[in-house]
Amino acid sequence: MTAAAKYIEKKLAERRSSGAYRTLKQENTLVDFCSNDYLGFARSLTLKNSSNEEINKNPSVLNGATGSRLISGNLAYTETLENEIAAYHKSDAGLLFNSGYDANIGLFSSLPQRGDTIITDELIHASIIDGARLSHANRYTFKHNDLNSLDAKLKQAKGICYVVIESVYSMDGDIPPLPELLNLTEKYTAHLIVDEAHAVGLYRNGLIPRLNLEERIFARVVTFGKALGCHGAIVLGSNALREYLINFARSFIYTTAAPFHQLVAVKMAYLLLQESDEAINALQKNIRLFKETIRYNEEYPLIESESAIQCIILKSNEKAREVAAYLQNSGLDVRAILSPTVPQGSERIRICLHAFNTENEIIKLTDTINNLINAK
Ligand SMILES: Cc1ncc(COP(=O)(O)O)c(C=O)c1O
Repeated sequence: MTAAAKYIEKKLAERRSSGAYRTLKQENTLVDFCSNDYLGFARSLTLKNSSNEEINKNPSVLNGATGSRLISGNLAYTETLENEIAAYHKSDAGLLFNSGYDANIGLFSSLPQRGDTIITDELIHASIIDGARLSHANRYTFKHNDLNSLDAKLKQAKGICYVVIESVYSMDGDIPPLPELLNLTEKYTAHLIVDEAHAVGLYRNGLIPRLNLEERIFARVVTFGKALGCHGAIVLGSNALREYLINFARSFIYTTAAPFHQLVAVKMAYLLLQESDEAINALQKNIRLFKETIRYNEEYPLIESESAIQCIILKSNEKAREVAAYLQNSGLDVRAILSPTVPQGSERIRICLHAFNTENEIIKLTDTINNLINAK
C-alpha cells in the first residue's frame, strides 16, 4: 500500500469507529422530513413548466455558459436577474455565485485582509469558516447568540471588523437577536454580514427586510438551493461591494458561469415566491402543528426554534443514528446529524418541515418520536 493509500484507510477507519462514517444515499419514497425544499419549489410542476416556457422563448441562448462571467459567460439576462433579485431583497446590488458555498468562500476570502478581524457565531456554517480561513484576517468566534461573548470579542478586534451570523441557523434552526446584535456591532463600528440561506422563503424575502434592517447590514448572502428549490446564490450589498467581488473574489472569477437554464429556474422561482402566500402559510401551520404535538423531554431536548428546522438532541452519534433509522423504517425520512458536523454531545436528529407535509404525516412523525424517546 502506498503512503497515501494507508493514510486514507486510517482516516476512514477512524470515521467508522467514531460512528461518523458518511455514505451517500439515493432518492427514496419516504416522507420528506430532511430536505431544504421548504416550500416545495423543487417539486413544483408550475416552476418546471414556467422554466421550460422561458427556455423555449430564448432559443438562441447557448446551453452552457461557455466561460467565466469575466470572459464569455455573462449575459444581459444574468445582470437583469441580479438587479431584480437585489431589488426584491431591498438591496442596492447583488452578485450571483454558483452556490452558497462559493458565495461565502468568495466574500470571506477576499474582503477581510491581514490585520482585519472576522468574528463569527460559533455555530456559523462551514462555508463561512472555510472562506474566513482563506483570508489572512484574525478570526474569533463568539458563543451562540450571546451578546456578552460578542462584546468581549469586539473589544479584541483589530483593523476592519466583520461580524458574521445566520438569520436562521442551519443546524439549530433558531433565530438570533438580530437588532441587539446589530446595535452592538455598530457600537464598535464593525460591519454585520448575515447569511439568510434558511430564512428566505419562510420569511419570504428574508428576515432582514422583514425587520427593516437592510440599510444597516453590510452584506447578505441568499442561497437558491433551499426554499427556492434551485441552485446558486447571491451576495447582496452596495454597488461598490459588487464591483469589489467581481475584481477580487476568486470563487467568482475562476469558475464557469451558471448555465442559462439555471438562471431561468432562479428567475421563475423568484416569481413563484411572490405568489406563494398559500405555501408560506402552510409551512407556518406545519411548524405550529409540530411544536404543539411533540412532547418535550429533558433528557433529549428539542432546540427552541420557530423555523422549519427542528432538532432533537440525542447526545451521541450512536443514538442519533438509531433514532433516525427507526424513523426511516417507519416511512419518515429524518436524518441524523453527527459529530463532527455538530459538536460532540450535541448529535441530533434534524427535522425539516415543509409546506407540502400533510397533517397526518406530521402527527405520525411526532407520535413516533413521542413513543420512542419522549414516552415518559
Ligand atoms: C447557512 C448556509 N450558508 C450557505 C450554505 C451553502 O449553500 P449552497 O448549498 O448553495 O452551497 C448553506 C447550505 O448548506 C447554509 O446552510
